[in-house]
Parts: sequence; C-alpha cells; structure tokens
Amino acid sequence: MAMTSTTGTPVPQTSAIGLLTGKVVLITGASRGIGAAAAHLFAREGAAVVLAARSTDALERLAGRIRLEGGRADTVALDLADAASIRAAVDRVEQLHGRLDGAFNNGATIQQPGPLESTSEEDIDEQFTVNFRAHWTAMTAQAALMRRNPGNPADPGAGGAAIVNTSSIGSRRANPALPAYGAMKRALNSLTETAAVTWARYGIRVNAITPGGTATQMIEEWETATPGITERINATVPLGRMAEPREVAEVAAWLLSDRASMVTGALVPVDGGAGA
Ligand SMILES: NC(=O)c1ccc[n+]([C@@H]2O[C@H](COP(=O)([O-])OP(=O)(O)OC[C@H]3O[C@@H](n4cnc5c(N)ncnc54)[C@H](OP(=O)(O)O)[C@@H]3O)[C@@H](O)[C@H]2O)c1
Repeated sequence: MAMTSTTGTPVPQTSAIGLLTGKVVLITGASRGIGAAAAHLFAREGAAVVLAARSTDALERLAGRIRLEGGRADTVALDLADAASIRAAVDRVEQLHGRLDGAFNNGATIQQPGPLESTSEEDIDEQFTVNFRAHWTAMTAQAALMRRNPGNPADPGAGGAAIVNTSSIGSRRANPALPAYGAMKRALNSLTETAAVTWARYGIRVNAITPGGTATQMIEEWETATPGITERINATVPLGRMAEPREVAEVAAWLLSDRASMVTGALVPVDGGAGA
C-alpha cells in the first residue's frame, strides 16, 4: 500500500535486500521518529538492533514489534545527558553481542525556538550536553568496542565497522530560529570529520547525515512554538515535501552497510534539495 507524506503525496516504498545482514547496530533516539524508523528498517535489513533512549516502555513496544516481524531487537535505557549512562549502554551491547558493527547516533533534543538574543543559558547548556558532548562520549566508547570486535580487520579497506551521526540541515548555514541547536550540530559535523580521519586506520568509517525537515515529534514541538513552520519548511523543499522518517533512515542504513565501504568523513544531505 502506498504511504503518503505530510502534503498527501505518495512516498516510495522499498523492499529489504539484506543490506545489514549479520551486523550488530546500536541506535540512539530509537524510541520514536527517525530512530524508530531506523530500528524497523535496520532489523528488516538483517541487523540485530539494540535500541536506546530514555522512554524504555516505548523501546520495549518497538522491540516487541520487530521480534514479531522476525527481527532481532534488544533495548537499553540511555540518557544522553549522562555520560555514564552512555558508556553503560555501549557496555550492554558488548554483554549482549560481544561486538558492535554499526552505531547510529541519532538521539537529540530541540531547543526553545527563538533568536540568538533570547536563547537561554539553559538551552545552550542542554544543546551542548545532549546534542554534542553525548556524541563524543558515545563515539569514543563505540569505537573502542569496535576495535575489540573479533576478527576486526587490520586493513582499513577490508570492511570494518561504521558510525553514522544525525546532524541537520540547520548545521550548514546561519540558523536564526534555532541558534544553539544549529551550532552544536555544526560542531558535530567537525567531530564526525575528525573521527573519520582518526579512526580510518582501524577500519572504522564515520559519517553524518544532515536531514532537512522530517515529519516527527521534533517538528510537532517546533510547530507548537512557531505555528506555520511545517508549511514554511515544506515550501522550501524542491521535492515539495518533508521527509518521512524512513526515508532518512534509508540513508543511514546505506552508510552503515559495506556498500558504503569507501565513504567516510561525509556529511550527507537528506533534505529533498532544500540545502542545494
Ligand atoms: N525532524 C526533523 O525535521 C529533523 C531535521 C534535522 C535533523 N533532525 C535530527 O534527527 C534526529 C532524530 O530526531 P527526530 O526528528 O526523530 O526527533 P524526535 O521524534 O523528537 O526523537 C528524538 C529521539 O531522541 C531521544 N532523546 C532526546 N533526548 C534524549 C536524551 N537526553 N537521552 C536519550 N535520548 C534522548 C528521544 O527519546 P526519549 O525522549 O525517549 O529519550 C527520541 O527517541 C535528531 O538528531 C534531530 O536533531 C531532525
């Protein structure tokens, strides 16, 4: 059955091809939105997924649905504001599977929308902690586990592990509506490129995606604070509509797969042309 977008236009559907067969993938921000769509997609593509977020009830329901579909899914409680909780989540993956092939660092929070001069110190601190520092903590723990993977190839070209960070179109240029969010996402782009260069020698690829407007709760929260923003975002997209969460997850799946074996340090737009 054809799915429709926020503007009522059809969204193409895809069939599983086993893109992530045999891989263990950790997904943060998996309780809803892009992360939940990624959980379904990665599992359908053959990955054993470990789902992380604060809302453990939502994670359990999601994992249950994935298992009913024949997939492999476990859950772990994770608060991105708490470094110890992030390291514990990666430890949990090691206990469950003894390895980590892919990490989709996707969890993040939106700031109170508004101009630079009214952005609060609390928002700056939260954006730094949850949307930037957490990714540094997560990536370093993940890379350490990936380096311990049994059979980790010494040859960087031989197909090792991969990390994908969710940045944003809002990182690419001035961001007058979400200044702290945009700044931390741009910092994440830098960290992504640095990690890619640093860990290439261990066969770990690191990339980021920069989604444009995507129909999730994050946009609903922005719409509540700034009525009309959904329509305004749709109007800026050359393809004429916001992305559905699965369409963003598809790009992360490819970047995590061996099909992207020569792609590292890339910031890949998933924005319907809005950043072009
Ligand atoms: N939607 C868009 O238009 C858009 C555009 C560009 C980029 N992005 C990015 O895409 C990613 C996914 O966003 P989304 O649109 O799917 O948003 P969403 O529906 O609001 O989901 C955000 C996810 O992050 C998790 N999260 C938030 N704070 C957390 C914390 N302190 N600890 C652990 N998990 C936390 C949430 O889980 P819990 O609340 O259960 O913890 C939830 O699973 C984010 O990185 C976002 O910045 C979104």
